[in-house]
Amino acid sequence: MTAILILHGPNLNLLGEREPGIYGNLSLAEIDLRLKDLSSELHLEVRTFQSNSEGALIDALHEARAWANGVVFNPGGYTHTSVALRDAVAGISLPVVEVHLSNVQAREDFRRISLIAPVCVGSIAGFGWQSYGLALRALKGILES
Ligand code: DQA
Repeated sequence: MTAILILHGPNLNLLGEREPGIYGNLSLAEIDLRLKDLSSELHLEVRTFQSNSEGALIDALHEARAWANGVVFNPGGYTHTSVALRDAVAGISLPVVEVHLSNVQAREDFRRISLIAPVCVGSIAGFGWQSYGLALRALKGILES
């Protein structure tokens, strides 16, 4: 079965209470539950992981080499700053889809720059929790075609 890591970056553990006008009212646990339901519908094996630490996110990407076929990654604020995460994505030979809940292109100028996007197979932003769902479907399409 196709296996996918869903990786959530910094501050996403506060979803539900964090700036709900921008990120919505769903908690991360609720989003992960919806993604688990979707993954059974799509016949995908999915594991989810969240960390606020850049190093732990890098370790999760490295470890995914041993079991996953692809990664759905919301790098949070590290999107705009982290050369180390970009290098990790570039260094693992797995397709990675960048996702954002909010439409980062329609927000502050600094959010328009992603260091991660150029090393991903694609990016999806602005659809709330469904950005992750769209990314799962896209990865399934790439991996199983
Ligand atoms: C985010 C967008 C980032 O700019 C921000 O720093 C986040 C969340 C999103 O999902 O919309 O933490 O990745």
